[in-house]
Amino acid sequence: MSALDLRLPKAVTLVEVGLRDGLQSVGHMVPTATKVRLLQALYAAGVRAMEVTSFVSPKAVSQFTDAEEVARAALALPGLRVSALIPNLRGWERARGVGVREVTVVIGATDRFNMANVRMTVDQSLAQLAGIMEAVGAEPGVAVEVGIAVAFGCPYTGRVPLAAVRRIIDRSVELGVGSVSLADTIGVATPLDVVAGLTGVRAACPNLPLSLHLHDTRGMGLANALAALHVGVTTFDGAVGGLGGCPFAPGATGNVATDDLNNMLTGMGIATGINQDGLLACGGILHDEVTVDLPSHALRVFLGQATGRGDPNGVNAG
Ligand code: COA
Ligand code: ZN
Repeated sequence: MSALDLRLPKAVTLVEVGLRDGLQSVGHMVPTATKVRLLQALYAAGVRAMEVTSFVSPKAVSQFTDAEEVARAALALPGLRVSALIPNLRGWERARGVGVREVTVVIGATDRFNMANVRMTVDQSLAQLAGIMEAVGAEPGVAVEVGIAVAFGCPYTGRVPLAAVRRIIDRSVELGVGSVSLADTIGVATPLDVVAGLTGVRAACPNLPLSLHLHDTRGMGLANALAALHVGVTTFDGAVGGLGGCPFAPGATGNVATDDLNNMLTGMGIATGINQDGLLACGGILHDEVTVDLPSHALRVFLGQATGRGDPNGVNAG
């Protein structure tokens, strides 16, 4: 059966968030030179959309004290869509200062999570968003996305009703936000939750560009991505190697691995423009230079083959 028979899209955009979501949970400061090397290797692999850093308070996340430097290195790569996370107006001013033209404003779907993450209630974050949109309004050609964290489940309050997500989306649309990303920050959604959430949002805002930000905490990442493909989503975040997590969401682990997503999509004949070997080489950089646990399945196979350790294809397995 082909992608055409299943009514799957012919092409998908993978937004690499490893340099932001991936690195924010790494306990030690990753040298700027390593980040830039990774950035350039991802670009060489064909990645053309990346969230490269976070313009947040260094007191909240110390990993991103070099945000300006990393953003500048990214902006030097021709044809790369460079975005950055911002939590507040100050974040926008910093992003604008280096020439970033795409920003994601992160707002948690629950007050409890949003307070833990950015020390604001949802309403206070929406008020910040209004200020950001006003500031951005004066700058032509800037794209603002709202990233709704814990859109499916919250580590503090459990299941998140669609109404809580809709409230943020409705206000974002009123304020002129260009797109919304639904984030399963703690990896609790099932494919049916994903379909219900996406179709619920679509019914209310049929023209709003939507993307999905999945974490693979309970092994649902690829299944959820496949479910989303069926309801027409064509933009997904992923982190190389499956790196990631949120320091403000207890128990949150890595993003769905870009290399696993790319392996699934290209294997099904869906174009991503990303070279799998190049992507795996990026995972190798993380493995060698950042020395963190990398849950990606595709990367484990690759590293097993590269070192001669293990038996990735299960040839000798019982
Ligand atoms: N960039 C750099 N510094 C910033 C900043 C930004 N975007 N926003 C605030 N600050 C600084 C302030 O200048 C202040 O510095 P000072 O103590 O030296 O005067 C300090 O941070 C505290 O500022 P305040 O406005 O009181 O913020 P806060 O302590 O209430 O924290 C946030 C709010 C949003 C700044 C902070 O919680 C944050 O950056 N969170 C990001 C969390 C995150 O990245 N989560 C993962 C992504 S989902
Ligand atoms: Zn995330």
